[in-house]
Amino acid sequence: MSQPSPLPQSKPSISLQARNVSKSFTSGDIRSTVLHDLTLDVRAGELTLISGPSGCGKSTLLAILSGLQRPDGGQVMALDQDLEQLDSRALERFRLLHTGFVFQGFNLFPALNALEQVELPLSYLGLSTGEARRRAIASLEEVGLGPRMGLRPSELSGGEKQRVAIARALAKEPDLLFADEPTSALDAANGQIVIDILHRIARTHGTTVLCVSHDPRLVGHADRVLAMEDGRILSDRVPTPTPTPTPGHEEPSA
Ligand SMILES: Nc1ncnc2c1ncn2[C@@H]1O[C@H](COP(=O)(O)OP(=O)(O)OP(=O)(O)O)[C@@H](O)[C@H]1O
Ligand SMILES: [Mg+2]
Repeated sequence: MSQPSPLPQSKPSISLQARNVSKSFTSGDIRSTVLHDLTLDVRAGELTLISGPSGCGKSTLLAILSGLQRPDGGQVMALDQDLEQLDSRALERFRLLHTGFVFQGFNLFPALNALEQVELPLSYLGLSTGEARRRAIASLEEVGLGPRMGLRPSELSGGEKQRVAIARALAKEPDLLFADEPTSALDAANGQIVIDILHRIARTHGTTVLCVSHDPRLVGHADRVLAMEDGRILSDRVPTPTPTPTPGHEEPSA
């Protein structure tokens, strides 16, 4: 008589879906296909790493999944929203409210200190000055930069600059956090710190963290690794964790 409940009550954890996504670029007479009918699911609360050689389409895929570029074909569902259905204004708003981006080159303003870098984008969210400041300080503390928030980029190391960029993305409290080669300008110790911070953000905030990189050192620090080649996902696996020698986010010695 008693039947099991047919529908699970828990929230589905898949937050990003690509279905048969394709993308080509034309230069001169030559048309090259960069993404071939690519299908993937990404889950919330995990750090997913897409690894693959230079030119295989990683940045293009990230740009499409984050709504920065439109695919030629296929569908992208982000937080249950079909991005195709959004006009460019709505897409911009979706990106503002729900996504954060961390780039290889940090993209910091030379004249602003770390606190101001993180506060600036929060003004576009319509937060009060006090709330923006509270969030900016909390995010900088979360990446271990509380004591250095008054410093400008020229006074920060590469690893610290990347942590400011992460704090800036994190302060928006995005559901989806995208990182394109976030460690490639860093040495091994700083790369490790950055990837550990991204991993922790996924776990503690339930954020979907999608990182693309060709750095093989990151593989053991992700929850899931998708190997990409020539615009296709070749494998999807849970890596063997790499032991973390330095806990927390202490400064490596100079
Ligand atoms: N706007 C564009 N116009 C023309 N071709 C493009 C454009 N964007 C990307 N491409 C081409 O698409 C291919 C994939 O580029 P993409 O930047 O996605 O690679 P990637 O995997 O991120 O490489 P890397 O690891 O070097 O960053 C490359 O051959 C690139 O030249
Ligand atoms: Mg790239």
